Amino acid sequence: MITVTNVSLQFSDRKLFDDVNIKFIPGNCYGLIGANGAGKSTFLKILAGEIQPSTGNVSMGPDERLTTLSQNHYGFEDYTVLETVIMGHKRLYEIMKEKDAVYMKADFTDADGILAAELEGEFAELDGWEAEPQAAVMLQGLGISEDMHDKKMSELTEGLKVKVLLAQALFGKPDVLLLDEPTNGLDKQSIEWLEEFLIDFPNTVIVVSHDRHFLNKVCTHMADVDFSKIKLYVGNYDFWLESSQLASKLQGNVNAKKEEQIKELQAFIARFSANASKSKQATSRKKMLEKITLDDIQPSSRRYPFVGFTPDRDIGNDLLRVENISKTIDGKKILDNITFTLNKDDKVAFTSKNDIAITVLFKILMGEMEPDTGSFKWGVTTSQSYLPKDTTDEFLNESLTVVDWLRQFASAEENDNTFLRSFLGRMLFSGEDVLKEVSVLSGGEKVRCMLSKMMLSKSNVLVMDDPTNHLDLESITALNDGLIAFKGSILFGSHDHQFIQTIANRIIEISPNGVVDRAETTYDDFLDNKSVKEQIAALYATV
Ligand SMILES: Nc1ncnc2c1ncn2[C@@H]1O[C@H](COP(=O)(O)OP(=O)(O)OP(=O)(O)O)[C@@H](O)[C@H]1O
Ligand SMILES: [Mg+2]
Repeated sequence: MITVTNVSLQFSDRKLFDDVNIKFIPGNCYGLIGANGAGKSTFLKILAGEIQPSTGNVSMGPDERLTTLSQNHYGFEDYTVLETVIMGHKRLYEIMKEKDAVYMKADFTDADGILAAELEGEFAELDGWEAEPQAAVMLQGLGISEDMHDKKMSELTEGLKVKVLLAQALFGKPDVLLLDEPTNGLDKQSIEWLEEFLIDFPNTVIVVSHDRHFLNKVCTHMADVDFSKIKLYVGNYDFWLESSQLASKLQGNVNAKKEEQIKELQAFIARFSANASKSKQATSRKKMLEKITLDDIQPSSRRYPFVGFTPDRDIGNDLLRVENISKTIDGKKILDNITFTLNKDDKVAFTSKNDIAITVLFKILMGEMEPDTGSFKWGVTTSQSYLPKDTTDEFLNESLTVVDWLRQFASAEENDNTFLRSFLGRMLFSGEDVLKEVSVLSGGEKVRCMLSKMMLSKSNVLVMDDPTNHLDLESITALNDGLIAFKGSILFGSHDHQFIQTIANRIIEISPNGVVDRAETTYDDFLDNKSVKEQIAALYATV
């Protein structure tokens, strides 16, 4: 159990948390939700003791252990994969190291013998003998095969490092498990494995995620960060969303009598419980839902940014020609003989079983990486604007304020404070927000900055690598609408089915053995098409 008492936190002009009181109880999985910049990551840091609140405190039961998902992907480069996972249980790892050191001593004394016996005792108590097999099983569940367990972390690609760090957080059954956007960067199978793991996990889980499907699957409660408070709701994400929409509807309808409002709430809960009745904890959840009163539900203060891209010129006849591009990374073939030609008006979703293939292709097309063989040519009338998956390199000059950061990309007519501030206002950076240093921005705020940069560029081709990563639902909707309305061309990769379905008019599957390319199709038709299915199966069968 973890208890938060009277916690407040103030950053310069803004009160992020105001007197938060909340208890997180074992057996529950709390989805910590809230708009980009609401304070979710900061709250997890307060819980983990990495940030001190301005007032109040956080306490746990005696001897309880808390783990977090490390955000520093390069923090364990000199350790082996298996060791990195076991390091998730700090005390156990220390004992293992101390034991090794004692047994290695050339002049092993009686005192050493006593120490060794003590260490062995504690080691056994912590299930030390099970540590390596348990870590190995976890790694395998996440798709990291046994031959990699003794490799150094430095030898792994970033995608694999993320999985090892996830196993580290989950290792050894912590009493409190804190996960900040754990599904980012994970493939589908690993997400499914994590979902099962969390559903069966007996202790306290607090997980930040913008992935609606994931939240619905694993969470028993929502903890919503809004109005500088954190409010607990029983139920999954969809229930929270619909009840908060109902709350704003009821609030808007001032003439409705209290009894009518209560009736409406009850009808809503009955409908929702009926839908949710297939889920595991259905009955107990139903009981909890029935206790909800009008005062328990609250409309949300989430806002929609304005996302609109206007190209400064039309694309001529040629958009992009790609011929025979191949690329091998760390001995693994990522792209093999990729050939396609894109035309004006194409909005192309690139799909692949291997996400890295799309990232590498985009990097090559944006001139950030050299292909091993092959070539590509953008049409002379095109101009490209790129949203990479990892935006770290875009914010290297950390001390720039948001408005000065954006000014770097503005034309002479648009680089004055008045214009930039009103532009940023529409992207939800209002008032003093624009004077924040970019180093403190949240994940979603950074993406909003990048979208602002892309809007200012007035390019006629947008290249976006998983743009909805990090964004809250309101920003995803705004971006989705903006891309549907965009008059230029788009090349993008995404995990969001609806996003692909509503934007793309062409789908290209990138396999390690070439492409399956369909123009004038929607994503659903592409997925349903028998001949497409066969072609894709054939391409992956020969890997
Ligand atoms: N040191 C700081 N000084 C001023 N503001 C800060 C500082 N650190 C964080 N912030 C601001 O606090 C807010 C909360 O940031 P946080 O990273 O917790 O958001 P989040 O809810 O995790 O958002 P996201 O969904 O985008 O990840 C943001 O507006 C951020 O810019
Ligand atoms: Mg965050």
